[in-house]
Amino acid sequence: MKSLKGRVAVITGGGSGFGRELAIRCAREAMPVVLADVDVSGMEGTLSLLAPGSTCIIQRCDVSRASDVDELADVAYRTFGECAVLFNNAGVGAAGPAWTATLDDWTWTIGVNLMGVVHGVRAFIPRMIEQGRECHVVNTASAAGLVAPAGSSVYCASKFAVVGFTECLFHELRAEHPQIGVSLLCPAFVDTGISRSERNRPQSLRDTNPQAEKYAEQLRKAIKSGKLTAADIASTALDAVQTRSVLCSAPRTDRGKRRGQDEGHRGGASTDLSATSILKPCFARVLARAEPLKGPLHF
Ligand SMILES: NC(=O)c1ccc[n+]([C@@H]2O[C@H](COP(=O)([O-])OP(=O)(O)OC[C@H]3O[C@@H](n4cnc5c(N)ncnc54)[C@H](O)[C@@H]3O)[C@@H](O)[C@H]2O)c1
Repeated sequence: MKSLKGRVAVITGGGSGFGRELAIRCAREAMPVVLADVDVSGMEGTLSLLAPGSTCIIQRCDVSRASDVDELADVAYRTFGECAVLFNNAGVGAAGPAWTATLDDWTWTIGVNLMGVVHGVRAFIPRMIEQGRECHVVNTASAAGLVAPAGSSVYCASKFAVVGFTECLFHELRAEHPQIGVSLLCPAFVDTGISRSERNRPQSLRDTNPQAEKYAEQLRKAIKSGKLTAADIASTALDAVQTRSVLCSAPRTDRGKRRGQDEGHRGGASTDLSATSILKPCFARVLARAEPLKGPLHF
């Protein structure tokens, strides 16, 4: 989608982190923005950061609830008549070993991270198909959808599932509705609110992994050490929409290379991640899987 001006962006998790920066970037492109989040004051904070004259509405929405996401789509289409770019971005993190992860950890994390994306696709894609115009979906997975560090089983399970789901969606839309592009966002260790996800955890799902803290502390340190900002990630995601890249990873911070024009954009590794050597082949495998399927898997 080369031209974004005047096209509508819907951003879940718009009250903080990547979602907030995506809103700032989209508004700068003169896109009307619909923000969705459980955190209304967070969305109001985002609203206050948008360029003067921006068009933006906020909608309280728990993405783990299909009815909330259906309502979000109703609001977007009633207000603006379209959704051109959907960012299925809201997410939460739960830490701790697999064998002590609680059922509440599973219900909460899968509900937001995986079912939130599923609900977004079910609510918006049929309407995007009806629109008949060029549209795009960006699903936020994570580097933790490609590699599996200790203490992340629940989060990784949710994000690996988002990777697989998004790759299927990519193949399906390319075959049947190629006017709708799909990108998978796989960042790692960016200092946002993600390490404080518990702030949005429902009371009804409060039974937390009793061994979470040791791993959560490691995660907080890793996130603090990340060199990329949420604004960098938002730029990468917007670039991917404009170039219809299937995989958006972190941009390289090697300033010798032009941002968005290097392998980092199409899915190569970020140069400032300690895990680069692990991630690089993972990115290559995602890109290889984006080639049209052949053989017994080709229907
Ligand atoms: N920060 C990182 O290092 C990192 C790395 C890889 C992937 N991610 C992913 O990026 C996405 C955005 O996270 P972030 O880092 O900006 O964190 P963040 O905590 O700053 O933002 C997440 C937003 O999602 C919202 N949210 C939580 N539960 C929700 C629900 N049920 N319904 C609607 N909104 C809800 C929160 O209120 C918050 O505004 C997530 O999917 C996260 O898993 C983050």
